[in-house]
Amino acid sequence: MKEIRTRAVLSSWLAKERAKGKRIGFVPTMGALHAGHMSLAARARAENDIYVCSVFVNPKQFNNPADLAAYPRTLESDLEKLARAGCDAVFCPDVLEMYPDEAVKRYDFGHLDKVMEGKFRPGHFNGVAVVVDKLFEMVKPDRAYFGRKDFQQLRIVREMAALEGHETEIVSCPTEREDDGLAMSSRNVRLTEGQRKAAPRIFKGLMKAREMFSSYSLEEIKENVVAFINRSPELQVEYFDIVCENTLLPAVSPDSQGELVACIAVYAGEVRLIDNLSLNS
Ligand code: PAJ
Repeated sequence: MKEIRTRAVLSSWLAKERAKGKRIGFVPTMGALHAGHMSLAARARAENDIYVCSVFVNPKQFNNPADLAAYPRTLESDLEKLARAGCDAVFCPDVLEMYPDEAVKRYDFGHLDKVMEGKFRPGHFNGVAVVVDKLFEMVKPDRAYFGRKDFQQLRIVREMAALEGHETEIVSCPTEREDDGLAMSSRNVRLTEGQRKAAPRIFKGLMKAREMFSSYSLEEIKENVVAFINRSPELQVEYFDIVCENTLLPAVSPDSQGELVACIAVYAGEVRLIDNLSLNS
């Protein structure tokens, strides 16, 4: 497995591979890899001739400096995991390599980045879009793999790719969970024992929403789920919204057209956890 730190080396190696007719898969990450990331890597390996992973903790998408400082960095063990998973190359640039100058694009995503994560983390999705655009420019992947765990991010990446004219196919991968239902996340390692015990309540709450879906109003579902999760002294819901999959507009009733997705953010102490579940598919 190649470990590449500069865009020049990355581009010249990939140009050679592309010239041989190789199809390129790409998995962008911020490292601290867990089984959720590795499921994306396995899929990229299965569906492409070669695949590249990036490991880069992107400062532009952190609206909270304390969160950026606390973000786990485990490059050595990440490299080992990726080598074992048959990864062909890891791109792990430093900040200056990714952002050689100050200029940063401003995207207009309309409503898509004003709600949920976008509302509570202003600037976050612009930072995600900027880095994924740069990475797509460098890798020019045939396919790129993103987790459904970050449901709104996936929608934003699709929008960015359409706006920028990237020809990459964006592949959505299911959320990997611990045995007790907690969505895998690099942030889970920061949970105390008590918070970790309480955290599966988030997925239980989402399952509750799905069970209630056919017989209760959306308002009743929201009230019930938020109260259920907040009943744990370890957890505090930041938002719980039920939105239409494509527009991210709030669903008005269970009969709203298309797929409806329940999206949630919960604080366990300082640690912010997100999850989502489709209610009708
Ligand atoms: P990161 O949080 O490291 O996640 C990298 C990819 O792994 C994302 O596509 C994310 O949705 C996926 N992922 C995380 N947890 C998962 C789980 N439990 N099951 C399945 N997939 C999961 O998301 C980012 O990094 C960054 O925003 C990035 C796209 C790399 C841009 O900086």
